[in-house]
Order: sequence, then C-alpha cells, then structure tokens
Amino acid sequence: MRVKIQRKTLEEFELDVHDITLLAALNKIKLEQDPSLTFASGCRSSVCGSCSMRVNGKEVLACSYKIQDGDMVEPLKNVPVIRDLVVDMDRALSFNAASKAWLSSLSSGVSLSHEDEKINEIQSDCILCGSCYSACPVYSVNKEFLGPFALTRVWKYVSDKREQSDGSKIETIQTNGVWDCTLCNECTLVCPQGISSKADIEKLRSKSAMAGYSDPSFANSFGGGFGFDGSPSF
Ligand code: SF4
Ligand code: SF4
Ligand code: FES
Repeated sequence: MRVKIQRKTLEEFELDVHDITLLAALNKIKLEQDPSLTFASGCRSSVCGSCSMRVNGKEVLACSYKIQDGDMVEPLKNVPVIRDLVVDMDRALSFNAASKAWLSSLSSGVSLSHEDEKINEIQSDCILCGSCYSACPVYSVNKEFLGPFALTRVWKYVSDKREQSDGSKIETIQTNGVWDCTLCNECTLVCPQGISSKADIEKLRSKSAMAGYSDPSFANSFGGGFGFDGSPSF
C-alpha cells in the first residue's frame, strides 16, 4: 500500500499493511521509516480530537479512518501548520472566548428537565478537533469569522434556560458571526460527532431576528430583513 503525505513537499511511503487506521499507519512510518514524521494524537479512540487531518481533501480523525491505497494525507486547512501534520488551533479556539461561549449568568431558581437537557445535548459532544474550521469556506477567507464550533457553543448556552445573559451573547454574534455564514453545511459533513453547526447558526439567526437584528448586507441591498423564523422579509 502506498500513502502520500504532504510535508514541506509531497512524500510517498510504501507500507505492507491491511485494514489499519491512518494513525496506526503514521506510527508505523515513524517507527520504521522516518522518525522525524510529526503528527498529533492522544486517545486513539475518537475522543480527544487531537488527530484530525485531511485525507484526499476531506477532514477525518486519523484514529478512526481506515487507510486506503493511494491516500493523500494533509494537515488541516485554514490554520497555521507547525510541522508536517501538526497545526496551531489557538486562534480558532480563541473564538470561544470572543463569542462569549460560556454560561455567564446562571439563574438560581431554574432547573433543567430531561427534555431541556436534550435541546443542547449534542452540542456538548464537541471534541474541539477543528475539522469544521478546516472545511469552512467563510473562515478560509475571513479569519475574523467566529466560525462553526464557537457559534455552536453560543447556541448551546443561548438555548440553556438557566442563562440570563443570552441578549449579550446574541449581540456578540452579529458581527463576523451568524450573518456571515453561507449555510453551506460543510461543517456538518465533516464533524465526527454529528454536530450541525449550520443548524445551530440557523437557530441563532432566528433568535437574532426575534431580538430585532437582521442581516446587515441583506437589509442594505433590499431594504428588508429577516422575519421571526430567520427567513427574509421585504
Ligand atoms: S455552514 Fe457556515 S459555518 Fe458551516 S462551513 Fe458553511 S459557512 Fe462555515
Ligand atoms: S463541532 Fe464537530 S468538527 Fe467542529 S470542532 Fe467540534 S467536533 Fe470537531
Ligand atoms: S487520537 Fe484522540 S481523537 Fe484521534
């Protein structure tokens, strides 16, 4: 089996293996052929999010992807490459703070029912792998865009009944936030946890419209805005 790895240049490695994960193949190359090959990994069971990279142009977790003959492996896109397949996620992660993605003003008298917990249960499963930022075409051209997982986290806390400061969170995501997303769904397609940031962004748009906000570019072009369900009005 041959596998190509994008480092400073594209390098090809020959491996005598079958039915193994990409992470196992990378470990084998490092052990037997090139000890300088650099990549990140941790849990080896799709939990820590540290081994995300791209195979044939699509984001995967190396510890769960089964390598195929001829695969081309590259680091994540849209983030600085530190070395080989290791990237610097600091800037993308900083958007959690910029978007106020936390529970900031806890109401003491409210407790969550089982149904309430289900509303934002899946958003809690994010493993911060960064695949959605790599796949996002808006983030690729606008590094100020808050991006998929930060906006998903905002939805998690805005939809939490105990949060009393949801108004300030909604205000924070009006610039370089919900209206900049093209709803292309690329983030959803690559998320290993089945999280749909696109769907969360649509819900945040509805919340924004209910709070009186509208898409600034749309309003300027057509003199209209968005209705309470987030759909355009004229
Ligand atoms: S749906 Fe929005 S956040 Fe997701 S990849 Fe597309 S532009 Fe980015
Ligand atoms: S939302 Fe999904 S793709 Fe994005 S960082 Fe979290 S787990 Fe990874
Ligand atoms: S090593 Fe933890 S997700 Fe792959």
